[in-house]
Amino acid sequence: MSTNIVWHQASVSTAERTAQKGHASCVLWYTGLSGSGKSTIANAVDRKLYERGCHSYVLDGDNVRHGLNKDLGFDDVSRVENIRRITEVANLMTDAGLIVGTAFISPFLVDREQARQLAVAKFVEVFVDTPLGICEQRDPKGLYKKARAGDIPHFTGISSPYEPPVMPEVHLRTASLNVEEAAEQVIQALIEKDIIS
Ligand code: ADX
Repeated sequence: MSTNIVWHQASVSTAERTAQKGHASCVLWYTGLSGSGKSTIANAVDRKLYERGCHSYVLDGDNVRHGLNKDLGFDDVSRVENIRRITEVANLMTDAGLIVGTAFISPFLVDREQARQLAVAKFVEVFVDTPLGICEQRDPKGLYKKARAGDIPHFTGISSPYEPPVMPEVHLRTASLNVEEAAEQVIQALIEKDIIS
C-alpha cells in the first residue's frame, strides 16, 4: 500500500489533447467468450480508426498476459486483478487521448461495472455475443477441446461462469454479422457518441 503520495496535476488538459488529435478518447470495452471474436473485431475497428487518422490501440487478453499480467492465472481472484490492472492501463491511455479497445473475456459483471465507474473517459461496452456452441465449434486455439477433457481448470463457459452484459452500449450478435459489419457498428456508435466525427 503506497502512503504519503500526492497527485500531480498534468500540464496538458483533456480538451487540449482532444483538439490536437481531432477526436475524443474513450474505452471500447469488448467482452465475450473465448473464441467469440473480440480480438478480431477490436482489431478491425482499430484499423478503421487508424485509417481515419485516429490515435487508437488495442489491449488484448492473450497479449497482456504475455507481459504485464504474466503472473496471473484464471482463478476468480486472478481474473479480478487482471481486469483491475487493465482498467488502470486503459485509464492511463485514455488520459493520454487515445481510443482504447480492451479485448478481454472479462466474465464478471461487477468487474466490468467497476471499470465503467473508474473510467476517466467515455466507456462503451461492446458485447461480442457469440453463443458458446459456435465458440466451441470454432475452437481456434483448441482450448475448448482441452477444457472438455478436463485439462484446463476454470475454463470460461465450461467450468467457470460468464455473466453477459445487461445493457451494453453495443450488442454484436455475431451469428448474423460478418467482421466488417460488426466493426462498422462499433464505428457508428463512436460517431453517435461524438467521440469521432
Ligand atoms: S479474463 O477472463 O481474465 O478476462 P483474458 O481475456 O485475460 O481472460 O484471457 C482469456 C484468454 O486466455 C482466452 O482467450 C484463452 O486463449 C486463454 N485461456 C487460458 N486459460 C483459460 C481459462 N481457464 N479460461 C478462459 N481463457 C483461458
